Amino acid sequence: MHRILLIGATGRTGRQVLAQLPATGVEVRALVRNPNTAGLAPHVHMFRGDLTAPETLDAPLDGIDTVFLVWTAPPDTIAPAIQRIVKHARRIVFLSAPIKTQHPFVQQPNELRKVPEQIERLIEASPLEWTFLRPGMFSANCLWWWAPQLRAGADVIRWPYLDVPTAPIDERDIAAIAVRALCDDGHAGAEYVLTGPESLTQSDQISTIAQVIGRPLRIEEMSPEEARDELPGHEHLLDAWAAAAGHPAFMTTTFREITGTEPRTFREWAVDHAAQFRV
Ligand SMILES: NC(=O)c1ccc[n+]([C@@H]2O[C@H](COP(=O)([O-])OP(=O)(O)OC[C@H]3O[C@@H](n4cnc5c(N)ncnc54)[C@H](OP(=O)(O)O)[C@@H]3O)[C@@H](O)[C@H]2O)c1
Repeated sequence: MHRILLIGATGRTGRQVLAQLPATGVEVRALVRNPNTAGLAPHVHMFRGDLTAPETLDAPLDGIDTVFLVWTAPPDTIAPAIQRIVKHARRIVFLSAPIKTQHPFVQQPNELRKVPEQIERLIEASPLEWTFLRPGMFSANCLWWWAPQLRAGADVIRWPYLDVPTAPIDERDIAAIAVRALCDDGHAGAEYVLTGPESLTQSDQISTIAQVIGRPLRIEEMSPEEARDELPGHEHLLDAWAAAAGHPAFMTTTFREITGTEPRTFREWAVDHAAQFRV
């Protein structure tokens, strides 16, 4: 029996990985901080634990083959947590970021690179068989950016860097690649830079959502200065959009090469999540 431990199973990507893992021939475990609210399928063997308390990884890692790792925890316990994974597992699939891609969006000085860089260094120095997933912007980010305003009834969306294009990727497509790397051979040492199939400005993305929910929206440019005040916590993203202004989105055909199918479009994602944008 192939034993897989998902770390981050309750998150946006992790839930999709769980949904796409084969129903038979795999024992699925999940490290969860709160089993009572995790809402995972009954076949998932939940272990209470926390990446910030690395000793809690020992039980879920006992007898494991493969680990899927999402790290959004503070960085202080990265080294001891990875050490424990190295001790038990043979293979790891790490949800990283496109930190090596030569594009201004990701190559400007960016504090957010430090965590994936540190994790990758530790994994590369270990005997683990590894695969790094490097998705670009998640389609799901707009659930944070625009859904709250739209659900509150706004008919104007104010947003900065409206003309900057990205190629948003559906979390289900990231998960599809994760599942292959978790379950199939042939992905060791691979670094998969994953994007959606089309370049869309932020304005295009808002317009797509407006069309999908059937609501006419006015889209207004927010100045970079206003954005610094009005979007606290988005500083790194604002820097990335500023650096990417005037450049085409970075796009890859990696998903198609691995799966033989097209990644989902942003419109498909928006249709499937329309309810979350409606009043
Ligand atoms: N958003 C983007 O556009 C983008 C682009 C490229 C790369 N990424 C990378 O993608 C990753 C985020 O993926 P996501 O959006 O799927 O994640 P997410 O939805 O934010 O979920 C995070 C998961 O990690 C778990 N978690 C958080 N802190 C933990 C801890 N201390 N111990 C154990 N588990 C913990 C959460 O569990 P709980 O249920 O307990 O909270 C949850 O399952 C980040 O590393 C980010 O750098 C994102």
